[in-house]
Amino acid sequence: MSETPQPADLIVFGGTGDLSMRKLLPALYHCDRDGLLAPETRIIAMSRGGLDDADFRGKVDAEVRGSVPVDDLATWQRFLGRLHHVSIDVSGGDSTGWAKVTALLAGHEQRDRVFYLASPPMTFGPFCREAHRAGLVTPASRVVLEKPLGRDLASAQHINDEVGAIFHERQIFRIDHYLGKETVQNLLVLRFANAFLEPIWNSLWIDHVQITAAETVGTPGRRGYYDHAGALRDMVQNHLLQLLCLVAMEPPARNDRESIRDEKVKVLESLRPITGGEVDRFTVRGQYTAGVSGGVQVPGYLDEPDNTPPTEASHRVETFAAIRAEVKNWRWAGVPFYLRTGKRMPYRSSEIVVQFKEVPHSIFPGSTPNRLVLRLQPSEGIRLELMAKEPGAGEVALKPVPLSLSFAETFTARVPDAYERLLMDVLAGNPTLFMRRDEVEAAWRWIDPILTEWESQNMLPEPYPAGTAGPAGAHELVGRSGRAWHEEDLA
Ligand code: BG6
Repeated sequence: MSETPQPADLIVFGGTGDLSMRKLLPALYHCDRDGLLAPETRIIAMSRGGLDDADFRGKVDAEVRGSVPVDDLATWQRFLGRLHHVSIDVSGGDSTGWAKVTALLAGHEQRDRVFYLASPPMTFGPFCREAHRAGLVTPASRVVLEKPLGRDLASAQHINDEVGAIFHERQIFRIDHYLGKETVQNLLVLRFANAFLEPIWNSLWIDHVQITAAETVGTPGRRGYYDHAGALRDMVQNHLLQLLCLVAMEPPARNDRESIRDEKVKVLESLRPITGGEVDRFTVRGQYTAGVSGGVQVPGYLDEPDNTPPTEASHRVETFAAIRAEVKNWRWAGVPFYLRTGKRMPYRSSEIVVQFKEVPHSIFPGSTPNRLVLRLQPSEGIRLELMAKEPGAGEVALKPVPLSLSFAETFTARVPDAYERLLMDVLAGNPTLFMRRDEVEAAWRWIDPILTEWESQNMLPEPYPAGTAGPAGAHELVGRSGRAWHEEDLA
């Protein structure tokens, strides 16, 4: 990133939506407060909201100010002053709206120009075409595509073709906010800036890996999206597979935009396909029913409050998914990678657990294998579980003890939200932490047969009560080989 921030125009399509209000605007405010935005940088929201600049500033003042630390009013006012709003209906060939955007951007063609599409994927192609038709796509333009990028390989390829017809691949930033999380980046540092792990980072020493993204939240008000997404598309195809790539990838030659992504694609292409009859054996899907979450009685998925009533799709969609994956290469042959994600789980936790094998020959009874836990959230940190001797005379008694690094205690600096890091990378033109076209498509290629099999079956997802750790099938998935999910945080 250059030392002096360059003036930029950030055009957010879907600028008054949930993502924008909850994530993008707070992240941009933090960046502004930290001096990372040039004084001239503008944030131009586009939406159907029918707002003008003053209305939009009022809305942000009312809805965002309470969620960010405003220590001096001048900084907040400066941030509000950057905001503009253009009311537009992209689907309806709204020439007035485009004329307004064009007028706002006129004379600023040399600036970095970022189109951030915080909108459903079917709008990506039409938006890019219209922006191009309006003459707004300059050589210094970039486009950011929010997930989900399609709903299967064919639709992802279609979107990539449509966007690729207007923007060059180097101008396209496909965002996966998990890649902006501090611990995720730390995983790369842990693996490739320390010598001691690499010799044991393979099937000789590692028994299996677990990657979990558990959430306590349900899906109230999200039926329209979630019925057609489900946990596999919403979390596994992107976030969990990205984490798997970072754990499994070979050391890249350089820390640059292509080397890391090249290695990630190789991992995705090495995933053993799960097809046909194997899908039942290696995958599990569940849907939460009513239960107690956080001490409160909550409804099941089908009874979540929403504007639209449940449909056939609502009955079939999974709010929990677990998969036993395998990376078929020299390093990882025979090491299962268990992936799991769910809504309304008993705790919120995203973590990667690397479970090492037993010592080759144990001379102490009661020794358990080492475990490395990388905690993404909450309380980011790294913990290595080692065996130690309990003090005392007589028989040697062993106890697993943690060697812990808590980021909050070790580094006093505030841990920035993933979107802060990623937005600054877009403005700096650095795509390293964004997904390349071949990466996204390789991930869909692996997910597609699982989706096809699930959709062809006439079976509903396994129910699990809200506040529990997923359906029984998920425990059988790991239990079959004598393993168990890492559930320590349940305590
Ligand atoms: C989003 C999903 O990508 O990630 C949501 O669409 C999910 O369903 C969210 O809740 C989880 O993100 P985080 O950062 O809270 O783990």
